Parts: sequence; C-alpha cells; structure tokens
Amino acid sequence: MRNVSEDTLTQTFLDYMSDDTDGRVRYLLTELATRLHGFIRDTGLTHDEWRKALELLFKAGEISDAERNEFVLFSDVLGVSSLVDIINSTPDGTPSSVLGPFHVLGAPDVKVGADLKGENEGDLVVVGGRVLDTDGNPIEGAELEIWQTADNGLYSGQDESQPEYNLRAHMVSDADGRYLFSTVRPAPYTVPDDGPVGELLAATGRHPWRPSHLHFIATAKGFRSLVTEVFPSDDPYLDEDAVFGVREQLIMEYQERNDASDLPDDLEIKDKIEGTFYVVDFDFVLSKEA
Ligand code: BEZ
Ligand code: FE
Repeated sequence: MRNVSEDTLTQTFLDYMSDDTDGRVRYLLTELATRLHGFIRDTGLTHDEWRKALELLFKAGEISDAERNEFVLFSDVLGVSSLVDIINSTPDGTPSSVLGPFHVLGAPDVKVGADLKGENEGDLVVVGGRVLDTDGNPIEGAELEIWQTADNGLYSGQDESQPEYNLRAHMVSDADGRYLFSTVRPAPYTVPDDGPVGELLAATGRHPWRPSHLHFIATAKGFRSLVTEVFPSDDPYLDEDAVFGVREQLIMEYQERNDASDLPDDLEIKDKIEGTFYVVDFDFVLSKEA
C-alpha cells in the first residue's frame, strides 16, 4: 500500500503477511503490531525517545557475550520473564520462578545427604524435603539441579576465589522421594547493573537487589520440569525483588536449631555439627506432563 497513514499502517502491516504464515506466528505478530503501534499512537512517542530506546538495545548487544545476556536481563527487570513463568505455571504444582543467568551444566553428582558447604564461610543450613506428585505420592529418581551464591553474594563462575562448581550439585531423590543437603546460607545480591539495564533501573529510581535464594531445577520422567527458587522468610528484599521472582509458596522459614541429634542419619556432616545452624523444609510438587 502507498500513502500509508496513522490509521492504515497497522492493517497494511498485517496484510503484508502471506497466506501460508504459520497460524501461531500470525496471531502473535498481529497482537504485537496492534499493541506496539497503539502504544506509539497513544503515547505520542517522539524521535528522541525512540532513538534512546534503540541506543539501549544497541548497548545491550555490545555488552552481551557467551556469559552475559543483557536482553534476558531486560526481560527479567521488565517483569516479562516472570509473567511468562506465571502464566505457564500449573496451579497444582510448585510455582516456577526465574532461571537467571548463573545456572551451568555439569555440576557434580552428589548423594542424598551430601555436604555442599565444605570450606565456605557463613551460616550452616540443612535443606531437605521430598519430591512429590500432585496427589502427594513420592517421586523416586527425580533429578535436582541445585545452585546458589556463596556468603559474598557471588556464584562460582563470577568469583575467581571460588572453586569451579562451588555450591552447585546434581542429586537424585531416594525411594521415598527425599532429597537432603547441607550448605551455606546464600546472600542477597544485585543483578548486573553496569550496563543498559542498570541505566533503566537508575532512570526509574529502582535498585538492582534480589533477595537471597536457593535455585532448583527438578525433573522426573512423565512430569513437567520445574525451574524454581526458595527464599528465606526474613530476607529484607522479599517485597522488592528486582526481577519479580518471589511467590508466597516459595518463601520458607530458616528454622534456627542448636541440636543436630534429630537430623536424618544420612546427612553426611551430622556428627560434625556444632553450635547454631538452620533447617529449611521444602517439598517440590511436580505436575504430570500434558
Ligand atoms: C538469578 O537469580 O540468578 C538471577 C535472575 C535474574 C537476573 C539475574 C540473576
Ligand atoms: Fe540467583
């Protein structure tokens, strides 16, 4: 079409799509173009404002590499990653939460009861529970990927002082669906804010902090994979997570204890525990694959 106007541009764009365009692609692009063009019309977007937005995207490309994806970070701080999580979560299973950029493949295989804390400084936490189906039956052989920050708020991979795979593990649930490990209490940390995402946060008076959390991916044959996080109930950033990952069902009390005698016998370091430690009980509920 020639002589395109404010009123006809959106329909012209839609007409350009060929008849054999995949149905879902057509639907998504129709919705996107309609809303995007509507946003521009409604806000009266100026050339300067659009140029600034494109500059941010350009800088996101420049700062991204194999280890850092600024586009994912934009998606996180704009709430897009979490909204996709929320609308795709099943109502009967454990809610999912953001994957984040710090998961790596190849974490060591460890047994139920393993110690991940090792030489790490910080409070000792014993984390355990069961992997269950939505009827409450234990799932044997469920695989758990576990990763978290050290006491300094950094993941191994970000911090040269940590050994490779520090505070990372792969565990398989036992016949009762149990998992169990001892570790260090993770710390709150900031998402990377030295790039264009940081500019966006600063321009809107937002801070880059995330509440401390333990990351998990739970998978089992016949069940939907679950990517999630578990947060301590006393974390100061629970109500202001920069990436909107907190859900009520993912908040757990870090229960303070001084007596290790009633901990499970398969906890590797049970006999070496002295003084105060914390216990976190958390069950994962996996939904059946559709
Ligand atoms: C994380 O939890 O590891 C994370 C999530 C989103 C952005 C940055 C970090
Ligand atoms: Fe994280």
